[in-house]
Amino acid sequence: MTDQGARAAAILAEISEISEPGPGVTRLPFTPEHRAALDLLTRHMETAGLTVTLDNAGTLIGRKEGPPGSGTFLIGSHQDSVREGGAYDGIMGIVLPILAMEKLHSDGIDLPFSVEVLAFADEEGVRFPTALIGSRALAGTFDPAVLSMQDAQGTTLRGAMASFGLVPDRLSALARDPKGVLGFLETHIEQGPVLQTEDEALGVVTAICGIERHLITLTGETGHAGTLPMENRRDALVGAAAIVTEVNRLGQETPGLRATVGALTVEPNVVNAVPRSVRMTAEFRSPDDDTRRDAGDTLHRFSQAIAAQHNLKIEAELTYSQVAQPCDETLSARLSTAARAVGLRGLALPSGATHDASALADLCPIAMLFVRCRDGISHTPEEFASANDMRLAISVLSEFLRSL
Ligand code: HGY
Ligand code: MN
Ligand code: MN
Repeated sequence: MTDQGARAAAILAEISEISEPGPGVTRLPFTPEHRAALDLLTRHMETAGLTVTLDNAGTLIGRKEGPPGSGTFLIGSHQDSVREGGAYDGIMGIVLPILAMEKLHSDGIDLPFSVEVLAFADEEGVRFPTALIGSRALAGTFDPAVLSMQDAQGTTLRGAMASFGLVPDRLSALARDPKGVLGFLETHIEQGPVLQTEDEALGVVTAICGIERHLITLTGETGHAGTLPMENRRDALVGAAAIVTEVNRLGQETPGLRATVGALTVEPNVVNAVPRSVRMTAEFRSPDDDTRRDAGDTLHRFSQAIAAQHNLKIEAELTYSQVAQPCDETLSARLSTAARAVGLRGLALPSGATHDASALADLCPIAMLFVRCRDGISHTPEEFASANDMRLAISVLSEFLRSL
């Protein structure tokens, strides 16, 4: 069999061409690009001896049947990307398991359980202000209310899924019986610099950080920048600047917390007018949920005080949160053993990014395998994982499956 790392690199290069025009990869859920990616993945799943179906959440499922009643092990990741993203985030966690199953198939090895390789439609939440649609459907935690959410063109999630040939009102029927699921393993590019710093090809994830996101809108009063006296201005951007500084301070000074103001819009946003309003996000991530929640509470108290100080109106709401998810120790120990079997250390590390695995933790034990990420760069066209590291990951995946 040709070098599987080289094959993975070639398939990922081919899939990365399936994108909206522009730099890097832009492949959003329930789009022509999504459909084309599923067609390509279907071919490779069938070559690996998998039976392929598409569920009503848009998840492509490549199933290898095991003995009757033996339970199913789930393995996979998401097909979608961010805008102008990389060629590995998500999609690599689908291609590598396909090639691991192909290797077991060509070696004539039948596992004592069924396996499903899963390609989830949407994890990034870029097109619609929700995420983890397919993984939450399997876990039985999908909230039908999100079907009415709209993308930037006003298309609802329900409409996009129906146009894709799916029946979104049947999503609740996708929930799996936990008794029949042995576990879930997600392989993912690390998206950080730890493995490169440690000179290690692969890592075993200990926990997936919890996340919370806040939307803060400050409203003051605009006026002519040259004629409005400085005294008693109600400048919304001055208030927002203090909040940005406080979010950064919390991240810098709180152990285990990452804090980011990622989006900020100013109105009227012209050089010679005092800013009337600012709409901004604040995001906190931590492997410890109390640390994260304390930061959110501190932010709200601080923001209310700043609004009072600058005579601004304030609206502050928690718009999204998900708890930290520890990875299953038994599965992770097997993954570490499989990594050591190929000469690696089985290095353990937390995940600052969230993943479909965090949703599937509501269904079954989860584990994650990280692949080294060049310079820790991700969510950009420069994202890169080497063929040799992917070859090692495929060996670890097949070794892990055979150990279950
Ligand atoms: O935001 C995240 O952590 C993931 O990349 N969607
Ligand atoms: Mn991502
Ligand atoms: Mn991802």
